[in-house]
Amino acid sequence: MDRFFCIAPMMRRTDRHFRYLCSLLSSEAILFTEMIHANAINRNNPEKFLNNSDVSNSTVLQIGGSSPKELREATFKSNEFNYSEINLNLGCPSPKVQSGNFGAVLMKDLNLVKNCLQEMMKVSKKEVSVKIRLGVDDFDIEESLDDFIFELSKIGINTFYVHARIALLKGLDPKENRTIPPLNYERVKKIKEILKK
Ligand SMILES: Cc1cc2nc3c(=O)[nH]c(=O)nc-3n(C[C@H](O)[C@H](O)[C@H](O)COP(=O)(O)O)c2cc1C
Repeated sequence: MDRFFCIAPMMRRTDRHFRYLCSLLSSEAILFTEMIHANAINRNNPEKFLNNSDVSNSTVLQIGGSSPKELREATFKSNEFNYSEINLNLGCPSPKVQSGNFGAVLMKDLNLVKNCLQEMMKVSKKEVSVKIRLGVDDFDIEESLDDFIFELSKIGINTFYVHARIALLKGLDPKENRTIPPLNYERVKKIKEILKK
């Protein structure tokens, strides 16, 4: 899959109608869904959340959650839908998401993240990837970030989408955290170097 141009996952934006529109503009773009919580898929008719427009673009299903069992079940259910990849959200800073212990706050718990991903990989027919931040709160964006990525690559995660700024979970609202602190693309370049080795 050529990931040169992706339309990022955006809540209340990248629904299937928007993705259909994007597909008319570019058949090459990789499209992302909005983040969908694992339980929304598990507790409802999966069609309701997973039905994808009939587009030829590769489409990445992004899910959220922190229960390995729930994520495995949602991943299993998604196998039958036309997604090319399933992505775990480790980047959302919203207070609601944080209080549910998923999204960016999960970057503080590497073991739980590994556990979630391993359960997803056990049942997924598609590649499993992650979307991360450069860190969360006082996370050390040098050594700890390298370790985080290295540990996930050891369990078979090969694709990392990076929102190139730290998630600040206290003192900023999610909208402010889209512009503060500044983007740090240099750090992302370094991640690429590490992954090439
Ligand atoms: C309205 C909106 C909704 C978003 N929803 C999600 C989401 O559901 N999942 C996710 O991983 N990122 C989400 N993001 C983050 C984007 O995918 C992307 O990483 C971010 O906007 C990049 O910021 P930048 O343009 O400053 O680099 C959202 C961003 C916006 C603006």
